[in-house]
Amino acid sequence: MAMAPSSSSATSFFLLFYTLSLFLLSFTSAATSTDTISAQHSLTGNHTITSGVGTFVLGFFTPPGSGGNYYIGIWYGKVSVLTPAWVANRVTPVTDPTMSELKISNDGNLVLLDQFKSIIWSTNVTAISSSNSTVAVILDNGNLQLRDGSNSSLVFWQSFDHPTDTWLPGAKLGFNKITKRSQHLTSWKNKVDPSPGIFTFEMDPTGSFQYLFLWNLSRIYWASGLWNGHEFSSVTETPSNYRDDMQVVNHTDEIYITYTEGASNLTSRLVLDYDSGQNQVLVWMEISKSWMLVWSRPRSKCTVYAVCGPFGSCSDFTITAFCNCVKGFRIKSQTDWDLGDRSQGCERKTGLQCSGLNNDSADSEKDGFFEMPNVRLPDNPNTLATVASREGCELACLSNCSCSAYSYNGSGCFVWHEGLLNLQEQYNQSDAGTLYLRLAASELQYSERNKKRVVRLVIIIVIVLAILFSSVPAILIVVKKRESRRMIEKAKATQSHLVSFTYSELQQATRKFSTKLGRGGFGSVFKGSLPGSNDIAVKKLEGLCQGEKQFRTEVSTVGRIQHVNLVRLLGFCSQGSKRLLVYEFMSNGSLDSHLFHNAPSSHLNWKTRYQIAIGIARGIAYLHEQCRECIIHCDIKPENILLDASFKPKVADFGLAKLMGRDFSRVLTTLRGTKGYLAPEWITGVAITAKADVYSYGMVLLEIISGRRNLEQTTAEEDGTRYFPTFAASKMNEGDAAGVLDSKLGPEEVNMEEMDRACKIACWCIQDDERCRPTMGQVVQVLEGIIDVHPPPIPRSLLLSSDVPQPINFFFECSSNRSTQAANTTSNCSETGSHTSSSSDNK
Ligand SMILES: *[C@@H]1O[C@H](CO)[C@@H](O)[C@H](O)[C@H]1NC(C)=O
Ligand SMILES: *[C@@H]1O[C@H](CO)[C@@H](O)[C@H](O)[C@H]1NC(C)=O
Ligand SMILES: *[C@@H]1O[C@H](CO)[C@@H](O)[C@H](O)[C@H]1NC(C)=O
Ligand SMILES: *[C@@H]1O[C@H](CO)[C@@H](O)[C@H](O)[C@H]1NC(C)=O
Ligand SMILES: *[C@@H]1O[C@H](CO)[C@@H](O)[C@H](O)[C@H]1NC(C)=O
Ligand SMILES: *[C@@H]1O[C@H](CO)[C@@H](O)[C@H](O)[C@H]1NC(C)=O
Ligand SMILES: *[C@@H]1O[C@H](CO)[C@@H](O)[C@H](O)[C@H]1NC(C)=O
Ligand SMILES: *[C@@H]1O[C@H](CO)[C@@H](O)[C@H](O)[C@H]1NC(C)=O
Ligand SMILES: *[C@@H]1O[C@H](CO)[C@@H](O)[C@H](O)[C@H]1NC(C)=O
Ligand SMILES: *[C@@H]1O[C@H](CO)[C@@H](O)[C@H](O)[C@H]1NC(C)=O
Ligand SMILES: *[C@@H]1O[C@H](CO)[C@@H](O)[C@H](O)[C@H]1NC(C)=O
Repeated sequence: MAMAPSSSSATSFFLLFYTLSLFLLSFTSAATSTDTISAQHSLTGNHTITSGVGTFVLGFFTPPGSGGNYYIGIWYGKVSVLTPAWVANRVTPVTDPTMSELKISNDGNLVLLDQFKSIIWSTNVTAISSSNSTVAVILDNGNLQLRDGSNSSLVFWQSFDHPTDTWLPGAKLGFNKITKRSQHLTSWKNKVDPSPGIFTFEMDPTGSFQYLFLWNLSRIYWASGLWNGHEFSSVTETPSNYRDDMQVVNHTDEIYITYTEGASNLTSRLVLDYDSGQNQVLVWMEISKSWMLVWSRPRSKCTVYAVCGPFGSCSDFTITAFCNCVKGFRIKSQTDWDLGDRSQGCERKTGLQCSGLNNDSADSEKDGFFEMPNVRLPDNPNTLATVASREGCELACLSNCSCSAYSYNGSGCFVWHEGLLNLQEQYNQSDAGTLYLRLAASELQYSERNKKRVVRLVIIIVIVLAILFSSVPAILIVVKKRESRRMIEKAKATQSHLVSFTYSELQQATRKFSTKLGRGGFGSVFKGSLPGSNDIAVKKLEGLCQGEKQFRTEVSTVGRIQHVNLVRLLGFCSQGSKRLLVYEFMSNGSLDSHLFHNAPSSHLNWKTRYQIAIGIARGIAYLHEQCRECIIHCDIKPENILLDASFKPKVADFGLAKLMGRDFSRVLTTLRGTKGYLAPEWITGVAITAKADVYSYGMVLLEIISGRRNLEQTTAEEDGTRYFPTFAASKMNEGDAAGVLDSKLGPEEVNMEEMDRACKIACWCIQDDERCRPTMGQVVQVLEGIIDVHPPPIPRSLLLSSDVPQPINFFFECSSNRSTQAANTTSNCSETGSHTSSSSDNK
């Protein structure tokens, strides 16, 4: 039972979790409905019952797209997208909820009657005596209890004992040693059908302390590893929410795993996904109105047995879908496949001729084989012991009509009949092999024939073009000349105002987008040049679904913003669906390339760094305070700070959040990449203010000081993984600000006073409570030495996520009620912490 070494990504995960943990769901529901079904009060139509503070709701629901199938379910009451956590009648939907009824029957059971008044679901308890008057009550933990009406500790039945695909905190997964009844999760069949799907998740029925994932109740595809007292050996990265409070219980009559919810205010859920067969933790993001996946096991979807169905092939390296049909096959049921049920897999496009050895049909009609190298071979091969060559193996496969593939590994011949299951491509483990897939002759020749046709076409086109080019060069020269004159004029115009380019002009300027400078959240950037030696950077926006008029309006607003510390927008292109932006070119690239890469040539000295820090602050302060409309950047990070030839910083990409039509979900999808810079309020659903930029700026400033990524994973021989801001904050509290300095900086070149200011203000910027963060204007003044700054408290979220042991007296809280005056925010905020931090003050 080897303990897997705790991977560094675990730390970043906990961090994400906790940095995001200021999620307040603070509306109190005006509960009009009760939480109880009784003999007098049944449930029908669109009536619901709601748990105490409104966390869970029970009633009829219909999964969108299910074609009018209604189920009794429990869903999240404070989540605006219907998300069932439990379903009663999984396999027996009703079609007319107004005629159906969930009620307490005469024998005290909770039953569901359909429109014909027949019982289609029941709690089926036999131990209720006729004298008992039972009630069904929905609790705030999502448990539906059937209990005695007068004695609430007499529970006859509860939904926690019959979970569906969601494991709620407090529910048990395990089994009764006597009755062998088990509580396990079974995935939905597909996106719209809650009936039991092909994946289950259960406690090991042999009674060892581990949990298992099963395919079709028969095949184990993943095991958690044994419980070592505080975690499962293969799951060392359980979200802290679940890890800390996980319990394994071994009573005389039952054995089970349960967990209690962590302290976080995030709404999260743990489900067995119908689509991938993974156990997933999702966090509700109010701002994007969606559930965000934050954790899953098994980590790779391709580990899940037969996840792509027969003749489907799984790959971890395709961007769009992890499942695809193998060559010569097509999806058997597109509807099911799209809903996430791939159990039917793929079918042949062209049937096999089955013209094997004894058939004398023409060669061109014989079935052939398509070579698939580097695959995880399908499951259940038949081994042909007597065959000792690849050719022999191929013949053996051809001679049996039901053979669909073979593989020869140098000493053994394997053949497969009928469906190929569990095939994975781009598989580079040691057990990878080459599969020869049997296909109809026409499937194999198709590509050959097509190739010939294409070649012929290309030759014709080339000839035609050649004729054109040779006969009318004069015309071209004239056109070229006129074009280049126009370009020169436009290049000049960019000096004074925003220029509208055509796509072909930009294509020419960037030499067909040949030099890629980088990729941002909104698209790729290419280098180009305008006649007259102005270098430009051209950004191709992706995923923009804005009309041309609106785009022009927004662009012209952004184009009017000019500041020495902001990258200037020179022009744009809006043609058809294409949207491009033209910026001035920054010869020294982005800040991250100088900070984090160890090239000595790109070493930034302290003076330059400090100037960069002030410059960025001025640029952002201008956006926040001096533009006509306050612009929140939303994505401050070193990649978005560009340096000109003399290392003056300029902030890039501002106004894009606005341009992208406030498509926050897009921003959120890039969360993984930029999570080190995202302020906690980004996912709490409260309005984003300019203070979110201040937070990101603080993170960037720490990186400028330390020369390392905040979320960088240090090597194990150093000090394991650690989150730099926590380390910096505690170092500063010890009065050892120099301890956080970039080791590439010599101590003699650093101005310690500037260093101290920078550290303190950075720590102020990353306070959890946005009211405690300074404004960008104040940051500039502090860095310029115009105003003084008090020692900052350590942000609470950092403390929670720290791997560095924290003495308890570092636990400060911001006194938010006293921190409203802008001018002296910083001093107000330190109030609560000041008495405890005085020890470091005195140092
Ligand atoms: C519930 O259904 C009734 C009629 O069936 C309808 O008038 C009413 O608006 C519905 N209420 C809600 C909240 O949907
Ligand atoms: C209740 O019991 C009956 C007969 O024993 C069975 O057919 C039915 O599936 C049970 N229903 C539930 C919800 O367990
Ligand atoms: C309800 O039934 C149980 C046994 O099923 C019994 O022990 C209990 O006393 C009953 N309660 C009332 C109030 O009748
Ligand atoms: C309620 O039921 C529990 C469990 O059977 C019992 O211990 C308790 O005395 C009962 N309370 C009342 C008020 O009847
Ligand atoms: C659970 O308890 C039983 C009896 O005490 C014991 O035999 C069994 O080994 C225990 N199981 C585990 C996994 O510790
Ligand atoms: C699952 O197993 C059952 C028998 O246990 C079998 O009939 C069924 O075809 C299997 N499902 C799939 C998708 O293979
Ligand atoms: C959760 O929210 C409550 C108030 O809604 C607050 O008192 C508590 O500190 C929050 N917990 C965390 C971990 O943020
Ligand atoms: C020979 O080919 C025909 C179709 O061309 C097929 O129907 C038949 O089954 C084949 N026979 C054998 C023995 O492969
Ligand atoms: C083809 O293979 C299947 C499965 O191994 C076997 O049942 C069948 O008899 C074979 N047919 C021939 C003609 O060898
Ligand atoms: C080929 O497969 C057989 C059976 O699994 C195995 O015994 C043999 O070692 C393999 N040969 C090579 C070269 O991998
Ligand atoms: C497998 O692929 C990974 C990622 O591409 C690579 O790091 C690793 O070296 C490869 N292993 C083998 C055996 O090729």
